[in-house]
Amino acid sequence: MDSKLKKLASLIKSKDAKVIFFVGAGISTNCGIPDFRSPKTGLYSNLQKLNLPFPEAVFDINYFKRNPKAFYTLAEEMYPGKYLPSKFHYFIRLCQEKKILKRCYTQNIDALERVAGVHEDYIVEAHGSFAKIHCIKCHTEMDSVTWKKLMKKGIPRCQKCKSYVKPDIVFFGESLPAKFFDLWEKDSKDDFTVAIVAGTSLEVYPFAVLPSEISSKTTRVLINREICADFEDCPRKSDLVMLADCDHAVNKLVDLLGWQDDLEILIEEGKKLIESPATFTLEDSYTTDKKKKTSEAEKTARALAKKVAEVEKVATPGKDDTSVDELIKGIEKIDIKSVRAKK
Ligand code: APR
Repeated sequence: MDSKLKKLASLIKSKDAKVIFFVGAGISTNCGIPDFRSPKTGLYSNLQKLNLPFPEAVFDINYFKRNPKAFYTLAEEMYPGKYLPSKFHYFIRLCQEKKILKRCYTQNIDALERVAGVHEDYIVEAHGSFAKIHCIKCHTEMDSVTWKKLMKKGIPRCQKCKSYVKPDIVFFGESLPAKFFDLWEKDSKDDFTVAIVAGTSLEVYPFAVLPSEISSKTTRVLINREICADFEDCPRKSDLVMLADCDHAVNKLVDLLGWQDDLEILIEEGKKLIESPATFTLEDSYTTDKKKKTSEAEKTARALAKKVAEVEKVATPGKDDTSVDELIKGIEKIDIKSVRAKK
C-alpha cells in the first residue's frame, strides 16, 4: 500500500491538483455508524427484528407505504447529529482548505461531511438527507421539530392530508435529487487529478457507475476493505487500489503530505464544538445561505473559543435545539495557521 500512497500523495501535491470524492457508508463505520452490507456488522444483517421480506425493504418506498414502522424504527437511531466525523471526513475538509477539493459525491445520509465542515457547494448527497421532511402524497413540508415530536407518539402523518411523511432520503423506487444529475452532467466532462472512491461496495445504481464514467485522464483510487465494481470488472492501468481501512490510509497519507498537524487541529476543534451534551438539529446546516459561502478560515481561534463558550452556554444537557449551524460556523472559522502558530 505504501508505494500507492506515495503515488497518491504526489498527485495530491501536484500543481493545480483537482480532487473529487465518491464515498459510501464505509467512511462512517469508524464513527460508530454501521454500513449496509458488511457481513455480520452491516445494517442489513441486523434487521431480523423488523421481519422484513428483504433487508432493503426498510428503504423501499412501496414497502414504506404499507408498513412505515420498519423505517421509523431506524429513523431515530439514524438521525444525524449524534456522531463525530471520521478522519476520512476531515481529510475531505482538508482538501477543501487546501483549495483542491472539486466535489464530494456521497451516498451517506449521516451529514458527517457537513458536520466536518465541508461546504455544501462541494457536497452532492446522492441518496438525499434528513434536511427536509415531506408528505409522500401531497408533498407538504413538515419541520423537523414537529416531526421528531410526532415520532415520539407514533408514525408521523401529514397535518394536511393525513398521509405518511418521511425525510427526503432517497428510497429504492424514488429518483435521486436533481442536483446529482445536474452536477454529474458537468463533472463527468471534467478532468481531475485524482478521483478517490472510498467506503462503498458500489452496488447501488446510478451512483455505482460514476467511477466508471470519470474521465480517463483522471487517476482513480479505491480505498476500501474489499475490491468492487469497475475496479475489479474493468480495471484501468492507472488505478490505485488500496484494500485497507479508510482512516488507516488517511493517517499514512496525511503523514506523507505533511498535513498531520492540520488534521489534528480540525479533529480537536471539531470535538470541542461537537461533543456538547446537546443533540443537534441539522436544519441550519442545510441552509443554502450564500453568506456562509466562504469556508476560508476568516476568524482567529479566539473567535472559535468565543463560539465554544456560546455553544456551551446554549447547549445545556437535554436542550435539543442547538443548531449545528453555529457549530459549523465555528468549525469554518478555525484558522489552522494561527492555531498552529500558537502551538
Ligand atoms: N474502511 C474501508 N472500507 C470500509 C470500512 C472502513 N472503515 N468500513 C466498511 N468498508 C467497506 C465495506 O467493505 C463495503 O465494501 O465499505 C463498503 C460499504 O458498502 P455498503 O455497506 O454497501 O454501503 P454503501 O456502498 O454506502 O451502500 C450504498 O446502499 O442501501 C443503500 O442507500 C443505501 O447509500 C446506501 C447504498
